[in-house]
Amino acid sequence: MTDLTERRGLDDAVVYQPAEDSGLLAEAAVAEAHGRVLEVGTGSGWVAEQIAEKRGLEVVGSDRNPHAARQARERGIEGVVADLCGPFRTAAFDTVCFNPPYLPTDPDNEWDDWMERALSGGESGRELIEPFLADVGRVLAPGGVVLLLVSSLTGYDEVLALIEAAGFDHEVVVEESFPFETLSVLRLERAE
Ligand SMILES: C[S@@+](CC[C@H](N)C(=O)[O-])C[C@H]1O[C@@H](n2cnc3c(N)ncnc32)[C@H](O)[C@@H]1O
Repeated sequence: MTDLTERRGLDDAVVYQPAEDSGLLAEAAVAEAHGRVLEVGTGSGWVAEQIAEKRGLEVVGSDRNPHAARQARERGIEGVVADLCGPFRTAAFDTVCFNPPYLPTDPDNEWDDWMERALSGGESGRELIEPFLADVGRVLAPGGVVLLLVSSLTGYDEVLALIEAAGFDHEVVVEESFPFETLSVLRLERAE
């Protein structure tokens, strides 16, 4: 445990637990997922479990946080430690889901613990979304889809520009407004 983690009063083994954003991603994924599924940044593994249970699909849950991979395994999901899509084979998945860390965060006020890594999208809010979009096409099988949760706090138009630059078309699958943000789940497919 780091000094900062101790000062923040968090256990080092902290894992993001299901919240409104998780519920929206699960709703979209249960409706849209097909084939072999990867949930990047699986956290507690709850979204992956919803997909596996409600759709009977094979789901891998990956996370940079080893405690998250362990929690996913405790739910019966194949939980692995991975940085974004890095270790996965080309064309390995038909569906990739991601509820990314997306809050814009001042680097001078960033904590050094697992909860910060679950929430912080760096200064722009897009520091994980950008490399994810640049690589996710590689692990998608032909006809594959990506389900990406986007917050208005992250800069919706800027995320759309990254999606387009990565060669995807998008469609909004579910959307909900809260007092401080609007959350959307976008379904991405390779542009024709
Ligand atoms: C907002 S939480 C979402 C958790 C879960 N999917 C849900 O919806 O409840 C983001 C997750 O991404 C994980 N994460 C952060 N950086 C990552 C990276 N580079 N590669 C994989 N996972 C990462 C965090 O550890 C955290 O579990």
